[in-house]
Amino acid sequence: MTMLLLALLSLVLVCASGSTSSSTPKSLRFSLTTPTAKIAAAAASGLGLYLGKKVYDGPVFDEAVSLKGQNVIITGGNTGLGLESAIKLAQLGGNVIILSRASAKTDQAVETIKKQSGSSLVSAIPLDLGDLKSIKQCADELKKRVEKIDVALLNAGIMAVPTRELTKDGYESHMGVNHLGHFALLRELFPLVKKAPAGRVVTVSSSAHLLGKLDQTDLLLAKEGAYSPWPAYGNSKLANILFTRELARRLKEKRQNPNVVAVVLHPGACRTELGRYVFDPASIPKFLYPVLGVVGAPLLYFTKDQRMGAQTQIFLSASSRVSSKDNGLFFDNSKPADTSAEAKDVQEAKWLWAESEKLTNGKFEV
Ligand SMILES: NC(=O)c1ccc[n+]([C@@H]2O[C@H](COP(=O)([O-])OP(=O)(O)OC[C@H]3O[C@@H](n4cnc5c(N)ncnc54)[C@H](OP(=O)(O)O)[C@@H]3O)[C@@H](O)[C@H]2O)c1
Repeated sequence: MTMLLLALLSLVLVCASGSTSSSTPKSLRFSLTTPTAKIAAAAASGLGLYLGKKVYDGPVFDEAVSLKGQNVIITGGNTGLGLESAIKLAQLGGNVIILSRASAKTDQAVETIKKQSGSSLVSAIPLDLGDLKSIKQCADELKKRVEKIDVALLNAGIMAVPTRELTKDGYESHMGVNHLGHFALLRELFPLVKKAPAGRVVTVSSSAHLLGKLDQTDLLLAKEGAYSPWPAYGNSKLANILFTRELARRLKEKRQNPNVVAVVLHPGACRTELGRYVFDPASIPKFLYPVLGVVGAPLLYFTKDQRMGAQTQIFLSASSRVSSKDNGLFFDNSKPADTSAEAKDVQEAKWLWAESEKLTNGKFEV
């Protein structure tokens, strides 16, 4: 398919250039002087762009599965990819509980999910992933409400915070929220995941893990000059993958829960609120809007909207084609994909697990 696209695009380029250069094979020499040639070139360009966008965006999840009787928890379900996933998973019949910081935005999100999914089985429990006390309270409340967790979609995240900030427990914010918070939450809830017939742990990482490099003497980037926003984000996304792979390894080693699924994914570059830490759109002067419109057009093409961005995590949360045989795999556009060598480092994954237990004060029993 990709080859076909490339071939098509090359053809379009040759057509569009109307090339008559001596290096162009005779059979490919075109001229855009006739209206028919112009229409053909425009149509081919349109088709090429359309197909290219389809390939970039990946498949839409359209399996007719039912999640009736399944409990689905989603961190960061009040906006972005979490909200979009919540709508679809509620539509499929799941009892969706979004775990988000208490706010009017979260209340509003519950109403939106109910309205857009047509399901009344939607609720929220307050959770601040940067606060171990809040994590414990959230888990305690969940244990009162449900007897099992079928899908734990660990989606919440922050990105590229300009300066080194700390969570309530004093951890560098990316590692604290994106990894340690999820680690502590899942540790509390794992007994409920094991009670489901085939509980799934779906962790949202990123291809930005390629920017990550963990310093085992300074996981929280406390040393002088160690902090930089993008590598800090990359480290936390690398930790998401190492965590999933170590969970998968432990599940395999223990063999007592052969059906538990542990997978991780990159959603693609998506137009959500995640960039809010990088820049505030309100800070851009209005007179620059037309310029941004021109510069931003390619950005629209090479990014996914919220709905398309959520497809891989919806697929991993709901598809009947996903099972524990996929454990430890990293998905992109709903297909297994490669990761950095560091993300495959078993020793580093073991080290990170032990370090995460220390930092969050408790053993994670698989
Ligand atoms: N968008 C992309 O291009 C992209 C690319 C690769 C990976 N990802 C990953 O996709 C996931 C979802 O991101 P998104 O694009 O949907 O971003 P988003 O629109 O900014 O949503 C992030 C969610 O995380 C929540 N959150 C942040 N800090 C939290 C905390 N301390 N406690 C609880 N919840 C917290 C936010 O809640 P509040 O609104 O209350 O802060 C929000 O619900 C993230 O893990 C991100 O790293 C996104």
